[in-house]
Amino acid sequence: MKQYGAFSKVYDEIYLAKKYREYARFILRILSAHGHPVSSLLDVGCGTGTLIRYLKKDIPDCTGIDTSVAMLKYAKAKNPKQYFRKDSVLSFSFRKKFDAITCTFDVLNYLPTVRQLEVAIRNIRDHLDEQGVFFGDFNTPDKVFVPNFTQKGVDFISTQTPSAWTVRLRIPEKNRPSVEIHRERLYTREQVELSLRQAGFKRIEWYKSFSKRQRKGEKPPRLIFAAWI
Ligand SMILES: C[S@@+](CC[C@H](N)C(=O)[O-])C[C@H]1O[C@@H](n2cnc3c(N)ncnc32)[C@H](O)[C@@H]1O
Repeated sequence: MKQYGAFSKVYDEIYLAKKYREYARFILRILSAHGHPVSSLLDVGCGTGTLIRYLKKDIPDCTGIDTSVAMLKYAKAKNPKQYFRKDSVLSFSFRKKFDAITCTFDVLNYLPTVRQLEVAIRNIRDHLDEQGVFFGDFNTPDKVFVPNFTQKGVDFISTQTPSAWTVRLRIPEKNRPSVEIHRERLYTREQVELSLRQAGFKRIEWYKSFSKRQRKGEKPPRLIFAAWI
């Protein structure tokens, strides 16, 4: 029943189409436009380490944390020279600060309450260099999830309410299938923006894709942001 246990084995196969290379380019483009030299990056909720794989050539000091040991095993195998450890966005602690922190592909949605979102963003802020940049994304209530489908043998059975998406995954295994229940809280831009402002982020850029800013009045299914203290 544990999240990202059995599912870790098929995660990369299922999300091969996720645009990690484009995400890395987007991050590097913003970092270079900002002009502050970047030598360290922390990927919070790094999963199987694919984003770090695309960033480490430009940022050799990449660190990844995640609550799933199973996901971290894949991350380490992909990036043997980088440091990974089991830790939560809510409570991680490093003695150093980072030039950039990333929290990509729904990690923030896994926080079930606005209070937890605030704690997580404050912790991220506390680990960011004064000149650093925080990159994140989240699914919004405007996202419509496909209710039921099967991909790479995994059955996805979802239910959606205005503020949450719950999906029951049935993952085939040798003896008997594993079942994982994943729940994403769907956050509005206003909720995330308020948490960022309360934590001390003063400048925030909002994107609806890696190349397009969110325009006034637009309600994209997911939002990407870059935030500065
Ligand atoms: C959809 S995956 C995204 C993984 C990775 N960022 C990527 O882009 O592929 C969500 C990840 O968030 C991790 N996660 C969930 N709650 C977390 C928490 N409180 N702290 C750190 N990681 C968490 C999960 O274990 C999982 O690896």
